[in-house]
Amino acid sequence: SAYQVIVLAAGQGRRMKAGKNKQLLKIGHQTLIEHTLQVFENDDWCQSIYIVVHPDEMEWMERVIAKQPYKKIKPFVKGGKERQDSVRNGVKEIDKELITFVHDGARPFVTIDELHRLYEVTEEHGAAFLGIPVTDTIKKVEDDGTIHTLNRDKLVAAQTPQAFTYDLIKQAHDYAEAHQLYATDDVALLEYLDQSAVVVKGHDENFKITNPEDIQKAENMLQINRSKQLK
Ligand code: CTP
Ligand code: MG
Repeated sequence: SAYQVIVLAAGQGRRMKAGKNKQLLKIGHQTLIEHTLQVFENDDWCQSIYIVVHPDEMEWMERVIAKQPYKKIKPFVKGGKERQDSVRNGVKEIDKELITFVHDGARPFVTIDELHRLYEVTEEHGAAFLGIPVTDTIKKVEDDGTIHTLNRDKLVAAQTPQAFTYDLIKQAHDYAEAHQLYATDDVALLEYLDQSAVVVKGHDENFKITNPEDIQKAENMLQINRSKQLK
């Protein structure tokens, strides 16, 4: 079993309001991006890591990865304006033979068990993603105030990684580029091709570090993981 991963780190972290890219923020002793990279370094099924980096942050990222002897990190990919542009730049650089994971650098708590289950489903079905059931009742509010309550049983909150055969991720991004279509995740692009992806059940712990309060939540998670390892 072997896959490659595109790790997205080229955002600005505006909602974090830290005045800098949230990937740089410390969680415990290490930066957010280091925690995320470590999971893939530790996973034997992961062959190569393509980090997508903002053009102004290349040197900073070089310094971060120089701190540890990473074995899988490939030359950095230049980030784009939107997340989707960053993924597309990554897709241009990757190996055409391998199953490809796309992962948010801001999700440091994905587990190797989740990665392996995702891989196996992708190998069988061509595309898959981690998702969790929605606990809130979600309502769609129209501009005129009309409200539609969605059937919660059918709703899934999509996480990353999202995983694809090379051909599917390539086709999805080529199609989106040609037709100027944008979406907030890569599975959404598959829908334009009338392709679907299988949901693999994930965990709440794989949340995306987005808002200031998520830093404390992440510190707590780190403590919990440490105490589990000590047992
Ligand atoms: N990302 C990226 N390139 C972009 C935009 C986002 O590589 N042009 C990455 C981010 O670095 C992050 C992931 O995509 O790891 C998910 O995006 P998000 O959580 O929205 O991060 P930011 O865009 O950095 O944050 P914000 O939307 O609050 O500005
Ligand atoms: Mg964003």
